[in-house]
Amino acid sequence: MTETAANVPVAGVAMTAIGVAVIRARESRREDRLYDDPFAKNFVEAARAGFDAERWARLETLADQFYEGRTLGVRLVDDRFREAIDHGCRQIVLLGAGLDTRAFRMDLPRDIRIFEIDLPELFAFKEPVLARAGADPTCHRRVIAQDLREDWGKTLVNNGFRPDQPTCWVDEGSLGYLPLEENRRVVLTLTELSAPGSRFGVGRFAVDTTSGPYPELRRLVSGDAEPPRPAGGLGDDVAEWLEAIGWNTEFHSWNDMVAPLGRPTAPLDPGTGNIAAVRR
Ligand SMILES: C[S@@+](CC[C@H](N)C(=O)[O-])C[C@H]1O[C@@H](n2cnc3c(N)ncnc32)[C@H](O)[C@@H]1O
Repeated sequence: MTETAANVPVAGVAMTAIGVAVIRARESRREDRLYDDPFAKNFVEAARAGFDAERWARLETLADQFYEGRTLGVRLVDDRFREAIDHGCRQIVLLGAGLDTRAFRMDLPRDIRIFEIDLPELFAFKEPVLARAGADPTCHRRVIAQDLREDWGKTLVNNGFRPDQPTCWVDEGSLGYLPLEENRRVVLTLTELSAPGSRFGVGRFAVDTTSGPYPELRRLVSGDAEPPRPAGGLGDDVAEWLEAIGWNTEFHSWNDMVAPLGRPTAPLDPGTGNIAAVRR
């Protein structure tokens, strides 16, 4: 069926989710794919119909520039999901879920409960595309259409989230868009909602976000209306901070994590990687 251009987020942070869907669609077409996301192409087709040609070309250029690292990152989070489930997490919360389809594509058991948090405008686009594709989650899935700057913790609990059960929290690119204090508030909220054994992964990027593709990404997100704003994050002392608020942490370098995936890739600064945190 040809997709229609309803509610496409053509600017604003929700638009960045389309770029990641472009990357997942491209990966899924490869014979040597690291994962298969059968719905990514539906999102891409629906989104393209809402963009003008010039902005779509810019989005595709950015997706090309981010492809190599981002697609490896998707696979690493898939692996982290399974590991968390193996360690007893039956609840998963995606912060800034975007056009993620793990509830549909990973064959997760019925008793796994996935909560997807993102902005209302993102779900206004996402849900109709999934419905038209006849997508059916294999596990329990609940959509929380709310800004992470609001009281999303309360909404989560009101929607069946159980703070007494271990949870796997996933941030795959959303905390880069908020200022540090707001990001830390998000993490303080999820910390309060985390039973012992809960897991959280924080990316540490030793990259200069004032150069390379980053300024163009910010220009595109702002609809070329605002001057580029530096990305947020959780601060350089994030591991120490997490330890202080109740998490045990372990750093895994990007180079070590991607080596077993066998995809030729340029090594990154050894300070880039993931801080794996487990709630005490
Ligand atoms: C780069 S995309 C990544 C999406 C998804 N995690 C993935 O990997 O495909 C960032 C996502 O964060 C969401 N986001 C950014 N700021 C947000 C906020 N304040 N509240 C909720 N979601 C937000 C955007 O709408 C977008 O879907």
